[in-house]
Amino acid sequence: MNVQQPVCPVGGFDPYDLSAPHANWQQFRSTAPVFYHPDTNYWIVSNYNDIKGVFDDWETFSSENAQAPMTPLGDKAKAIVKAGGFTSGLSARTPPTHTRIRKVAQTAFSPRRFKAIEPQIEAIIERHLSAMEGKAQVDFFRDVAYPVPALVLFTLMGIPDQDVDKVKSWATSRALLTWGNLTGDDQLPHAQAMVDYWNYCRALVAARKAAPGDDFPSDMLAAQRDGAEISDEEIAGVMYSVLFAGHETTTTLMANALKVLMDNRTAWDAICADPSLIKGATEEILRYAPSIVSWRRLAKKPTQIGGVDIPQGANILLVMGAGNRDETVFPGGEDFDITRDNARTHLSLGYGIHFCIGFQLAKLEFGLMLRALTKKFPKLHLAEGHPINYIPSISFRVPDKLIIKPHGAS
Ligand code: HEM
Repeated sequence: MNVQQPVCPVGGFDPYDLSAPHANWQQFRSTAPVFYHPDTNYWIVSNYNDIKGVFDDWETFSSENAQAPMTPLGDKAKAIVKAGGFTSGLSARTPPTHTRIRKVAQTAFSPRRFKAIEPQIEAIIERHLSAMEGKAQVDFFRDVAYPVPALVLFTLMGIPDQDVDKVKSWATSRALLTWGNLTGDDQLPHAQAMVDYWNYCRALVAARKAAPGDDFPSDMLAAQRDGAEISDEEIAGVMYSVLFAGHETTTTLMANALKVLMDNRTAWDAICADPSLIKGATEEILRYAPSIVSWRRLAKKPTQIGGVDIPQGANILLVMGAGNRDETVFPGGEDFDITRDNARTHLSLGYGIHFCIGFQLAKLEFGLMLRALTKKFPKLHLAEGHPINYIPSISFRVPDKLIIKPHGAS
């Protein structure tokens, strides 16, 4: 190992505290863009080009640690997960298995299917926004951002509305167990929830196999019947990935976006006046306030990142939230600018062979939400006296609430 290994330039740095991470990230970029963090046993990478380079080189940097619990599971939690028979989702798989499974999943993720459900998405958004009408104060996170993406995704997945709360709660458990810092017996209920979630995915695949529907698992099973090489267990794995990735992230995007737009009123007012700005604003919001601020890789051989020696077996934490504000790529990167011309080159959806498979759906849903919100509630404001706390996590920057006044101060 390099004897001059760079160290964290910020004393007392807590990577699970995402309440106000940007000053630390700025410091990392300027003084130690690649350093080893002993408390987590991760190498932290914060420059845009270094992050992109790691994502791009999947042979050197494998995604196999992407879903590993940050805080290793204790024996009791491990036993629960093992007994539950969990195998793997999609993002921690590596080629050639990943390539084979992703190809089948992608056929079921066609833009045509998304386009077809656009009216249903609009109806779901309309229903939730109408419920805000006439109210002085609303928790936008709980009442809108939380249920809407789940209902959209569940429509695509062919899952009944009454299961929304259950799956949302399992997804929270999965996030806490994988990217949080739970220890000891605190892990147990969440380990059980992960197993219940896994069994739900398997049961869903079995049910669609017996009685196909017009939905995503049925599409993958149809591909299987047509000769695609994918097992039922692997389809359940994709469902396990999608039933998490497909709503948590979009929930967070909607809430973080509204906070950013309220903090940048001029941008909000500009969108209210001209909805054609939504496309560019969506990219800038993804760049500036990503739902997933970091993602993981594992070094398969001794290598270098940004000139720093990285040993074989090193865990790498790519801080896309930091790379997205790298001044060398995004001039004035700490500023929010919905007319920025290269915002869409952000790293918030990853890059390379694992690039987010649901990006079209996420952008479609978010764009429709912003359009409806700005049209219906142009005077919307944040309510004072409700400070936002962020859930402890190394990767997901999720607010605990977003209290708004839909009709403004009056
Ligand atoms: C704002 C919304 C979203 C964000 C910020 C986001 C972000 C990401 C990121 C960072 C990755 C890892 C990429 C990599 O390793 O290079 C990823 C992968 C993935 N995302 Fe998304 N995502 C979003 C929405 C969605 C939606 C709506 C779906 C599904 C309906 C989805 C499904 C997936 C899946 C299945 C993967 C794994 C792909 C693979 O490993 O090949 N995501 N996403």
